[in-house]
Amino acid sequence: MARSADAPMKRPMENYLSAAVEIARESGALLAQLSKRPHEITYKRPSDLVTEADRRSEALIVEHLRNRFPKHAIVSEEGGGQKTGSDYCWYVDPLDGTTNFAHGFPVFCVSIGLAYRNEVVAGVVYDPMREELFTAERGLGAYLNQQRIHVSKHGSLSESLVATGFPPFLRDHELNIDLYYTFTRLTHGVRRAGSAALDLCSVAAGRFEGFWELKLNPWDKAAGSLMVTEGGGRVTDLAGGPFELLGEAIFASNGLVHDQMLGVFSKHDAQTLGERPKAAAPVSR
Ligand code: IPD
Ligand code: CA
Ligand code: CA
Repeated sequence: MARSADAPMKRPMENYLSAAVEIARESGALLAQLSKRPHEITYKRPSDLVTEADRRSEALIVEHLRNRFPKHAIVSEEGGGQKTGSDYCWYVDPLDGTTNFAHGFPVFCVSIGLAYRNEVVAGVVYDPMREELFTAERGLGAYLNQQRIHVSKHGSLSESLVATGFPPFLRDHELNIDLYYTFTRLTHGVRRAGSAALDLCSVAAGRFEGFWELKLNPWDKAAGSLMVTEGGGRVTDLAGGPFELLGEAIFASNGLVHDQMLGVFSKHDAQTLGERPKAAAPVSR
């Protein structure tokens, strides 16, 4: 039987999304509260910080997800997840923007994405500092505080604001700095705000025309990638191939500047990116 025009839209992920929203709000409130206190900072690797807030937020989120969805798998950044063999897997970044958080720079969030067979079907990103709640369900659009959001309509790269990020490792061989330099010259600017999940939400909301990163974990990009596609944008790898949640690179845009940006990436092929100019030999005086 045909669906009548005013029949409510079926939302198969509704229960999952509303649970994730509740949990993200609770962990976001915890982060906001902890942000006012001094932090206990430890290092996973040099320049790779972790605070008590990452761990406490993760413990809270994972416990709630486990209680509500005991059969689902959970992959969470600080290692507190669970393997169950389920086709459903939650990807959790309990604090995206740890370095910002540790320095008192108020740009960080909680990111929770649900994948079914490695395809993201629902996602929540919550920024407790601005009280911005981004939500998306596959096929049903992206929302900011329950208002539908869309990618920008700017099609000119030279009038675009774009964003990128750098992993907290590979400090000595950071290939992306070349792309950062190139895009700084080609656009209105390149932002490096320090939270990949929020960067992706900014593409979805039309604040940035594009965002790329060479190495991101699935918990950084699960929820945000869905936000972009549901906001009407395009998400691929840096060669324009299909986006892989479990892959490393991500390139998200409003769709209109996608091919122009892909053209720039293609000029910086692996060899160009790999062969950074060597520091000039010291000159004796
Ligand atoms: C980091 C942030 C940053 C990105 C790094 C991520 P974390 O996540 O998303 O913007 O550039 O690659 O590792 O460590 O703050 O959760
Ligand atoms: Ca992260
Ligand atoms: Ca994190």
